[in-house]
Amino acid sequence: MAENEDNPLKPRPAWEADFPHERVEATHVSRREFAKFLCLVSGGLAAGTAFVAVKDKLLPPHRIVGEQRVCRLGDVPVGGTRAFVVPGSTTPYILIHLESGEWRAYEQKCTHLSCAVFYKPGSDKIECPCHNGWFDARTGAVLQGPPPRPLPQLAVIVRGEEIFVAELGPQPA
Ligand code: FES
Repeated sequence: MAENEDNPLKPRPAWEADFPHERVEATHVSRREFAKFLCLVSGGLAAGTAFVAVKDKLLPPHRIVGEQRVCRLGDVPVGGTRAFVVPGSTTPYILIHLESGEWRAYEQKCTHLSCAVFYKPGSDKIECPCHNGWFDARTGAVLQGPPPRPLPQLAVIVRGEEIFVAELGPQPA
């Protein structure tokens, strides 16, 4: 068995004799390799960002056809919320039962960078925790922070004991 360079008292394992390598070479990363790695990571991030931008800006948003049932009236207490999606879409929505007793429904994606937004009970505000963005829960308007547009809103229809949502029509940009 060959001599171990790290510890001359310990014999070198047989596999190292079969596959000799220089430890320094194995851990060394050249400037060129590091620059290649950075370019690869940067390119991947740029491609991902471009994909999200193209998808959000160029593809038409999913339109809700007719009225879609969300839940029963008693399913969401005053001050409570319910997350939902409509058939044929993956867009997340949030139904809010305001303390005033009124109902609101919004896309649950922040208009800044699409983080999930949450209703803050008792405040009539919707929070985006990513960059401290805030929206008015009664109108969806931006109150504070970087979001450039109000939250897209749906019409909420209460019929008997059931709650439905529908498109609200053209909304402010
Ligand atoms: S993603 Fe909501 S404030 Fe930035």
